[in-house]
Amino acid sequence: MRSGTVFTQGLRQAVGESPAWTVEAVRQVRYHVVSSVGLFTPDNPALLTGCPDAPLRPGDRRLIIVDQNVDALHGDAMRAYFAAHGVDVTVVPLHAEETVKQWDAVEAVVDAMNSFGIDRRREPVLAVGGGVLTDVVGFAASLYRRGTPYIRIPTTLIGLVDAGVGVKTGVNYQLGKNRLGTYAPATATFLDRSLLSTLPLRHIGNGLAEILKMALIRSNDLFRLLESHGAAVRADRMQGSTGELARAADAIIAESIHLMLEELQPNLWESALERCVDYGHTFSPTLEMHALPELLHGEAVVIDMALTTALGTLRGDLTEAEADRVYAVIRSLGLPLWTDVLERPGLLEDALRDTVRHRDGQQRLPLPVGIGRHRFVNDVTPAELRAAAGLLRGRALGAAAPAAPALVAGQVGV
Ligand SMILES: NC(=O)c1ccc[n+]([C@@H]2O[C@H](COP(=O)([O-])OP(=O)(O)OC[C@H]3O[C@@H](n4cnc5c(N)ncnc54)[C@H](O)[C@@H]3O)[C@@H](O)[C@H]2O)c1
Ligand SMILES: [Zn+2]
Repeated sequence: MRSGTVFTQGLRQAVGESPAWTVEAVRQVRYHVVSSVGLFTPDNPALLTGCPDAPLRPGDRRLIIVDQNVDALHGDAMRAYFAAHGVDVTVVPLHAEETVKQWDAVEAVVDAMNSFGIDRRREPVLAVGGGVLTDVVGFAASLYRRGTPYIRIPTTLIGLVDAGVGVKTGVNYQLGKNRLGTYAPATATFLDRSLLSTLPLRHIGNGLAEILKMALIRSNDLFRLLESHGAAVRADRMQGSTGELARAADAIIAESIHLMLEELQPNLWESALERCVDYGHTFSPTLEMHALPELLHGEAVVIDMALTTALGTLRGDLTEAEADRVYAVIRSLGLPLWTDVLERPGLLEDALRDTVRHRDGQQRLPLPVGIGRHRFVNDVTPAELRAAAGLLRGRALGAAAPAAPALVAGQVGV
């Protein structure tokens, strides 16, 4: 054994024929999620002082990458806000939708950072847009000079309650969804539900699907809120047009984020494979790909949840009355219960196999227990899945269903 080894915390020489070292270090992660209605209202200080780790002062410069659709709708207010506070912004609109969530988009962001000549110690990049935009910018920032801080301002409901509050970034590669990506939290995310005023209703429903997911596995209270106010806050695009709608929208968003962060914080790098936030995400990736472009992500997730709700009733984990309440809420949120893709031969078996591959050889399938609780199982069989699909078909299509509809929904699309 060689003498004179450097011993620091976590660095030690292994005993053996040849020298060897093991390095251990713990990297602290800290990020902020700050909510404020009307972020671009000139007298709102949230963007200036709301995040202790990213203050903004007169004379500062910022690079803003914005979804080009959002720029057309909110860009003037955004520019006016920063101008009023003496912040010199360079705004780069980006075409951001699922089909262009590719490496080219990352290069476009890197080009913008190069042209801006970013000072990575003091000038976090701002990402303003839906989940596609924030995932792309987050990915580019995490690669740029091995990590450049960034700040997110999500503008879709999925962004507010899901894509904007976790630590994952990424782009698609060939047919692989989010095949390239990193774990890289934004320094801060600023949530503003007033930005949803311009979002198509179908995308509001898309976000409500992820909120319903949190309710079904974690919170009967959140479920009751969706039951009592979901349809109304959806129609109101979470704008809080009355005091009651404002309280409901705030409570639904805040509770959903709180539950999501409670699940994420102890498992930020996803080392534990039993993740209840994967509920609704077992069969949905396969459904989404096979039904393209018919189903949005949240719509596929909700069909997965309807199917596993049926499975839960077959197993005696939910009563039929509870399942009917779940289906009624799904309908009231304008979301689909069924797609004929569920009955394609072999599809559910393939989806289950794929899941087992991604979850280290076991199903680790979160299933609902009543409303608001869950358990993990490893013994779901293809025959059971087919039975659940048959049960759901009956519930979803009912007696008066049209002949073989591709998609059955309350009101998909607007
Ligand atoms: N990183 C994560 O943890 C995470 C979590 C969930 C989803 N995601 C990713 O998020 C993406 C989906 O995000 P999304 O649902 O926000 O879709 P999106 O970003 O494609 O936005 C949906 C559409 O709405 C438009 N838009 C955005 N904000 C608007 C506004 N305020 N008014 C009008 N139009 C607006 C966009 O231009 C786009 O056409 C997927 O790629 C998914 O992989 C990531
Ligand atoms: Zn999802």
